[in-house]
Amino acid sequence: MSYLIRGAQVVNADCSQDAEILIVGDKIAAVGAKLDAPAGCEVIEAAGLLAMPGGIDPHTHMQLPFMGTVTADDFFSGTAAGLSGGTTSIIDFVIPNPQQSLLEAFHTWRGWAEKSVADYGFHVAITWWSEQVRAEMAELVTQHGVNSFKHFMAYKNAIMADDEVLVQSFTRALELGALPTVHAENGELVFSLQQALLKQGITGPEAHPLSRPPIVEAEAANRAIAIANVLNTPLYIVHVSCKEALEAIARARGNGQRVFGEVLAGHLIVDDSVYRNPDFDFAAGHVMSPPFRSKEHQSALWQGLQAGHLHTTATDHCTFCAEQKAAGKLDFSKIPNGCGGIEDRMAVIWDAGVNTGRLTPNEFVRITSSNCAQIFNLYPRKGVIAPGADADIVLWDAQATRTISTKTQFAKGGFNVFEGRTVRGVAQHTFAGGRHAFKLGQLQVEAGQGRYTTRPAFGAQHQALARHAALHAPQAVPR
Ligand code: URP
Ligand code: ZN
Ligand code: ZN
Repeated sequence: MSYLIRGAQVVNADCSQDAEILIVGDKIAAVGAKLDAPAGCEVIEAAGLLAMPGGIDPHTHMQLPFMGTVTADDFFSGTAAGLSGGTTSIIDFVIPNPQQSLLEAFHTWRGWAEKSVADYGFHVAITWWSEQVRAEMAELVTQHGVNSFKHFMAYKNAIMADDEVLVQSFTRALELGALPTVHAENGELVFSLQQALLKQGITGPEAHPLSRPPIVEAEAANRAIAIANVLNTPLYIVHVSCKEALEAIARARGNGQRVFGEVLAGHLIVDDSVYRNPDFDFAAGHVMSPPFRSKEHQSALWQGLQAGHLHTTATDHCTFCAEQKAAGKLDFSKIPNGCGGIEDRMAVIWDAGVNTGRLTPNEFVRITSSNCAQIFNLYPRKGVIAPGADADIVLWDAQATRTISTKTQFAKGGFNVFEGRTVRGVAQHTFAGGRHAFKLGQLQVEAGQGRYTTRPAFGAQHQALARHAALHAPQAVPR
């Protein structure tokens, strides 16, 4: 199948231009003025629309078994919801149980993801350490196209990685040319604060943010940065939610450390007042970690994006329905942690970022797609509209409005943290791997159309950067 998109303004991270786009099969064949349409090519009239690289969400959890239940969205419904909002690729997480083989877990997740309708890859979590883990990390990198490993510094008694695991795994990731990533919260402190709050009889969702204050996140971010500094590894910190963690990243970058920060659409838009709502379902629906923060932190996060200290935007899409959240009715620490967002990330960030003048359209592309593709080694296959790239394109109507509602959403779970928000900026068409997957409100997808995307190791460049950092690290003074 081929398509000629005519009349749109093509917006990439580096520039915008009025140009036609020719899609042949799953690739972009040409971008330019007055392209010839091959026989049988369908012409898409897109005057007045922006053509941007499809969004890449580097942080989702589809069909995740977590806190005694499984997320409401599976790889079909979750990726379909993403396509309806202009997101054409995800990087999800394989999370082995402690003592479980990484490869066994990887193959389990690959099986679950076969029904995806958008392209997908995986970060693999390191939840324990052994020689087997060390060997399997290599196999994942060299045989299965995994180039990032995740470490949960929170979730004690479940999947938490302690300092030994961080040190061993970061070291191994560097040898393999892979990128270590962390969920930065001090799990010991969270556990201790949870117990103290419960003892005081504070058992409702209002206790959730009290058990995970910004300093708990800042401590872990600073610790991970320090470990990465000593070991000369790069580091990617997921869902940065507070000013103090952001400052740690800015400081490290200022000192020449290669640290990347991710921010969630939810943390940019929703504030912590939601936890004080007396309606349990509403407050529990917002329980995720790190929690939503005060407006002061939100402003800092926007500034971090503008300043280039935060690089990617994600959702941490991890949906649970009210019945699942009710598991924590008597004890907030048992409320399954997670919220949705994949369907609305592009729209809410456009609306609150571009419409307010905080971001240019090119910067929007950078933080919703191109930076992610570059950091995780998907570029220029993804993250850019250019000949040879995957035909992952969203045709965006910057003037159209839409009111976000659970009644009209594709995502499951029956809850939306952006409920009732009217946004200006709407995905009208989404092309995913050359397929016209979303057209004027209608999904046109079949299970299994999404493809597993391999992400090569960083290789020589990565090692050279590490060596450069080592050369400039403080040296011991010989006696
Ligand atoms: O609350 C969250 N974020 N749930 C998903 C797991 C994680 O921490 O990313
Ligand atoms: Zn997390
Ligand atoms: Zn997550």
